[in-house]
Amino acid sequence: MIKDFGGKVAVITGAASGIGRGLAYGFAKRGMKIVLADIDKENLEKVAKELKEMGIEVMTQITDVSDPEQMAQLADASYARFGTVNILCNNAGVGGAGRISLITLETWNWTLGVNLFGVIHGIQYFLNRMLASNEPCHIVNTSSMAGLLSGDNSPYPVSKFAIVAISEALALDCFDTNVGVSVVCPGRVNTNIINNTRMLRETRPGTWQPPAEMIEESEIGKENMNRILARALAPEKLAEMVIKAIENDIFYVLTHPEYIPLVKSRYERIYEDILRLHEGIEAKSEKKSRIFKCDAPIFSIAYPESFIELKPNPMNFPVNEPVLVASKEPGIDLLIFAFKSSTNDRPLAETVQDIAKRIEERAREINITSNEPATLRDGTTAYESVIEYKYLGIFKIKSIHLSVLKDDHQIVISIYANANYYNDDLRDILYSLEFN
Ligand SMILES: NC(=O)c1ccc[n+]([C@@H]2O[C@H](COP(=O)([O-])OP(=O)(O)OC[C@H]3O[C@@H](n4cnc5c(N)ncnc54)[C@H](O)[C@@H]3O)[C@@H](O)[C@H]2O)c1
Repeated sequence: MIKDFGGKVAVITGAASGIGRGLAYGFAKRGMKIVLADIDKENLEKVAKELKEMGIEVMTQITDVSDPEQMAQLADASYARFGTVNILCNNAGVGGAGRISLITLETWNWTLGVNLFGVIHGIQYFLNRMLASNEPCHIVNTSSMAGLLSGDNSPYPVSKFAIVAISEALALDCFDTNVGVSVVCPGRVNTNIINNTRMLRETRPGTWQPPAEMIEESEIGKENMNRILARALAPEKLAEMVIKAIENDIFYVLTHPEYIPLVKSRYERIYEDILRLHEGIEAKSEKKSRIFKCDAPIFSIAYPESFIELKPNPMNFPVNEPVLVASKEPGIDLLIFAFKSSTNDRPLAETVQDIAKRIEERAREINITSNEPATLRDGTTAYESVIEYKYLGIFKIKSIHLSVLKDDHQIVISIYANANYYNDDLRDILYSLEFN
């Protein structure tokens, strides 16, 4: 997490125009040293001149982000000049083309080369140096709302979905390191993307050129688009949101909340199609239980028949902490930890603090949502707590814990499940606990 930007170093690709230029100003206002990279030499120098007039140390590097060698050189030159890099904005991009039935392979190669491989090259040549520096660092990848909602302007959304995916994977890899990650998914921003894309596309042999009669290419179409863009979000405002995201370690930077209903409706359609394909998936199965007994723990647990099995987890955990796994599908849906300690000094009500502390090592936004006395079916007094958190900063987990005092031993049984998957079956499993 970066709180103090002054004197730190930012590298921005696609910095000669639009969002990249806006980011450069946002960082300059905070006194950062800035490396500006783009293929547009003339506009790059203009931005550099303006920043220098603000008293900012600036370096420019002509870089085609789709070329791995040029990106490697950008990284070498940035580290050679400033010794470190704290923020990398993989921002350079070109706009959409057209319908899949029309576009050419060269169009695919060019768009994915710039938009997706530009990001991949940035990660490839900067990430390990950032990790090794141990300084606070952040990688910002510019995707788009088209990275969450596809449209008919391929290959643009294809490249932008992939940027969301690689950013999610990167955020998991970088959890609890000195490198934060954000993916920016803007709606319309007032930039030069339409004209720049058209100009660049026309210089590339083999790319699909939209015919003049297409509405977007007509004079009315261009005028309309310019009017729409003029009313769109200012790049400087977007830059302030990105900076807020870096300061607060916000991963998804959705700059246009008005798109939320559309994103929701996409996921609703996925859900509806699942129901159409698997009729009756929602119907509750009759609740029958099977019993799991294990020599090591001193208890048995009844679990619903709808689970495939409950079995000792093959993963290596300490012996005094047997872990069981259960699933509804082949694979692991939930983990059941059974922990027996020989001391009973700690009041049951306080066990939740120990559990939360353990979760802390791999999680964020830990929230103890309840912690109440309870009674097991056999009359044993217990304490029930529910803890919600984000595992590796991303996956929402809901966990339920029962702590029990039995024969001078404290036993804690915990069930961890994806929050969307959590249901009363899981509580039933805990309350079916019987001591052998
Ligand atoms: N403008 C929008 O409405 C909008 C919305 C969502 C996402 N985006 C994304 O924002 C990013 C920035 O776009 P923008 O809107 O500021 O457009 P822009 O055209 O104003 O700026 C993009 C810059 O990238 C540069 N560029 C193009 N190809 C390059 C390459 N191969 N190597 C290096 N630089 C290259 C261009 O020269 C230009 O300076 C893009 O990734 C774009 O997809 C834009």
